Amino acid sequence: MNPENDIAPSDITPREVFESRRDFIKKAGVGLIASTALLLNCPISAATPKNTNLPSRKLKAISTAYGRGEKLTSYEDVTSYNNFYEFGSDKSEPVINAKLFKTQPWTLTVEGEVRKNKTIAIEDILKLAPLEERIYRMRCVEGWSMVIPWVGLPLSELIKWAEPTGNAKYVEFISLEDKQQMPGQNIPLIDWPYTEGLRMDEAMNPLTILAVGLYGEVLPNQNGAPLRLVVPWKYGFKGAKSIVSVRFTEKQPVSSWMKISPKEYGFYANVNPNVEHPRWSQSTERRIGSGLFSSRIKTQMFNGYADQVGHMYSGVDLKRNF
Ligand code: MTE
Repeated sequence: MNPENDIAPSDITPREVFESRRDFIKKAGVGLIASTALLLNCPISAATPKNTNLPSRKLKAISTAYGRGEKLTSYEDVTSYNNFYEFGSDKSEPVINAKLFKTQPWTLTVEGEVRKNKTIAIEDILKLAPLEERIYRMRCVEGWSMVIPWVGLPLSELIKWAEPTGNAKYVEFISLEDKQQMPGQNIPLIDWPYTEGLRMDEAMNPLTILAVGLYGEVLPNQNGAPLRLVVPWKYGFKGAKSIVSVRFTEKQPVSSWMKISPKEYGFYANVNPNVEHPRWSQSTERRIGSGLFSSRIKTQMFNGYADQVGHMYSGVDLKRNF
């Protein structure tokens, strides 16, 4: 995989094409789809919400070779099968409950081990580097996966702007806390706000991005608008959504999931088929949208990104540091 090469625009199915396919399928067999969806426990045909606050939903992004040849998960599945506990604990809830979520104006603060605390508006984050399209495989710890064409910029660009001090060894990401807008935060399922963390070298790795869009458009609210983390070699829960603060620390932060269940969720959370989870298989995965009878696929070490990230863990016992 060579990220320098351009990907032909024709390699990406334009949204209109799969939307018209979706309409056709809907008309052709609503009953069949409904029963299939029930068996799969996935929601059917949720309407695509419009992020009406933003002037234009389209984003200009440079094509890259990341994910060339991968079969994309449909826009509909990517935007209606979500984990976003602030908007409900069922995967079908965020698309409904996040519809009116206000994502403008939005600012991000950088704090902790930095030369000085700073605040940056989302518009200025977009100016830090050209936006790129990155097609990444995403693996959820629950045993399913998707392939998503993200639009974003390398997290390293924000870190350079933040000017961390030499004491900064880790980066913590803090999602928005707003009980008025986020009904799920009235339930103490998580010690709100949702937080995640990365080691500094992981945060600086070229694969790590701050995503602001998907499928060439501004991020739908349920996918973490207006700004979320994407770390494709780690389980999906590392990708904190709707981030408002980035804190640089000397000590390893304790993330939300580590607090909830330290036996199940570690700090590293690298995709690793050799380390089992107490409840879900990590050796194989179900690709969302691949059909009811398609077989599970083998999960790859570091989700298939070992060439780009394996070097960061030489000498690390990945069974202990799960
Ligand atoms: N970020 C916040 N703030 N709240 C969440 O509940 N869920 C995580 C992660 N980021 C979550 C979050 C989990 S468990 C997953 S699998 C991914 O978001 C899902 O991202 P997606 O809905 O865009 O696929």
